[in-house]
Amino acid sequence: MALAGHEFLASLGKTRLRPGGKEATDFLLQNAEISADTKVLEVACNRGQSMMEIASRFGCSVVGVDKFDYLVKEARENIENLGLTESCSVELADAQDLPFKDECFDVVVNEAMLTILSRSKREAVLQEYFRVLKPGGYLLTHDVMLLEDDEKLRKSLGKTIKLGVHPETFENWMSYFEGAGFSVQNYKPGEMTLISPKGLLKDEGALNAAKIVRNGMKAENREYFLSMKNFFMANKDKLRYIAVVSRKLK
Ligand SMILES: C[S@@+](CC[C@H](N)C(=O)[O-])C[C@H]1O[C@@H](n2cnc3c(N)ncnc32)[C@H](O)[C@@H]1O
Repeated sequence: MALAGHEFLASLGKTRLRPGGKEATDFLLQNAEISADTKVLEVACNRGQSMMEIASRFGCSVVGVDKFDYLVKEARENIENLGLTESCSVELADAQDLPFKDECFDVVVNEAMLTILSRSKREAVLQEYFRVLKPGGYLLTHDVMLLEDDEKLRKSLGKTIKLGVHPETFENWMSYFEGAGFSVQNYKPGEMTLISPKGLLKDEGALNAAKIVRNGMKAENREYFLSMKNFFMANKDKLRYIAVVSRKLK
């Protein structure tokens, strides 16, 4: 079976598998009052890259979950290799059914996952985040946004990255968060940088960016790599990332 776009990019060596990369993640983290005492949950932690950065940067504890066993195993190995087992742990779980008590996290981070959920599942997942957050807690999300509602574009994005996706307009994204009881405190839209030359350099550094492109241009990867790159180039005026800082106020 063909790999979904983000796993294909991971197989080329890409570590940040999200539409606005480091710029969007930094915006989220700057807006959430994180300190050494903060309890952070990262849903969709993939191979643990983001949660390890958060734990190292703020000295806080971070629990990660992902729904795939092989990713949980790799994340645990990466955490061990970086000597972060005191602050980081990972569990296998679906975002819709988190194995945690009510109101036990100060911050939930969830990047590049809500976009790939069906709309009904997305609503259920947001209710689950509301449940596990303490009152006053922050939900930090980062997704793909359509500048105008466009079902044809949605479908061709899904076809390009070989994964069902449901990116939303700004108004729709806001109504999901507010519908689940969150108050949107801040947001930042920006250019999609997942696979742009600028984004690759910024997120992966010159050496790794060059390696990713080299791997992408190998005969067995070229068609998929170029189709993703061309799709995002051709639609750069229609797609954005949106990073959203929401809060559970009661
Ligand atoms: C595009 S990747 C983003 C990974 C990471 N958050 C990042 O920004 O680099 C999407 C991730 O969501 C995970 N995922 C998808 N559906 C999920 C669900 N229902 N519960 C938990 N994880 C899920 C996938 O396994 C994958 O690791």
